[in-house]
Amino acid sequence: MKKLTVALPGREYDILIQKGLLDSAGEHCRAVLPRARRIAVVTDSNVAPLYLDRVINSLEAAGFAVKGIAVPAGESSKSMEMLGYLYQEMLGFGLARTDAVAALGGGVVGDLAGFAAATVLRGVDYVQIPTTVLSQVDSSVGGKVAIDLPAGKNLAGAFWQPKLVLMDPECLNTLSDKIFSDGMAEVIKYGCIRDGEFFRFLDQCGGRSGVMEYIEQVLYTCCDIKRQVVLADERDTGLRMILNFGHTVGHAFELAGHYEDWTHGQAVAAGMVWAARLGEKLGITSAGSQQAICAVLEKYSLPTHIPCEWDTMVQAVGLDKKRADGGISFVLLTGLGWAEPKKMETKQLLGELQQLYEG
Ligand code: GLY
Repeated sequence: MKKLTVALPGREYDILIQKGLLDSAGEHCRAVLPRARRIAVVTDSNVAPLYLDRVINSLEAAGFAVKGIAVPAGESSKSMEMLGYLYQEMLGFGLARTDAVAALGGGVVGDLAGFAAATVLRGVDYVQIPTTVLSQVDSSVGGKVAIDLPAGKNLAGAFWQPKLVLMDPECLNTLSDKIFSDGMAEVIKYGCIRDGEFFRFLDQCGGRSGVMEYIEQVLYTCCDIKRQVVLADERDTGLRMILNFGHTVGHAFELAGHYEDWTHGQAVAAGMVWAARLGEKLGITSAGSQQAICAVLEKYSLPTHIPCEWDTMVQAVGLDKKRADGGISFVLLTGLGWAEPKKMETKQLLGELQQLYEG
């Protein structure tokens, strides 16, 4: 078993990575939730038939009373309505302040269940049991939980750290190629922003089957980078921005496809290519980085280009959460393996992007 500790003072938690870990979820949860009697396991309609029974059996064997709550799969479940439904189900189950929530699924389930845990009864403990690449390497670690509002994604949320993150890499075997690739964009991102050697390793793995041979180490490397970034900047006011490499332009692509045509990872993949192009144009990113990123993305069936109207690009940059005082922190690479946020005037950034757009 691989183990990482996110040592936030007073809210320390472990990330455990092991094949077959779902079947020992109970004993690991018991160790971090000694007082809890009940656990509400939130999952979705895709994951429930695959893994819910195994998790419930393991939790019950460890002495917990368990209620499984499945929401419809998909982003539309990250809503106020579904949050209200979870509150109702949790309270109907008799959940108390000393009890806990477990999130079994991908990013949507983790964000929604985590936000319910952060707010029900003014906050209860929760455990993340991520089952997709994206949720294992990104959303289950770091405590960002949220729902979407009609005005935009993730606009109501909290920083609420889990008590434990349990990753069973065998869950990834049931993912479609599209959803596997979706998460690989974030994996490649970690190589770009903090680990050039890891980037080259991903290149050598050559695709899904190659990377699955080393999946425990891959998850460990990504979570270790995320852990270090979160420890340095839990509240996302500085360094944590580097996790958004490729995301500013990526949001334009998500918007262009109405959040339906492209997955988040696909949009981030093409966004990273743009960020590398921009960095090379500004003389900040070492030459050849864009080409190397494209080569790796292609091996994981990720797009290097997504069509998008210029107006949509302008709109997305204007909506970017990293915007402040007329400026924006755009994450650029210095080379493969190192990223830094660069403060730019929105106007200057749009001017540079427009030149690339027209070029
Ligand atoms: N997914 C970006 C972050 O956790 O900050």
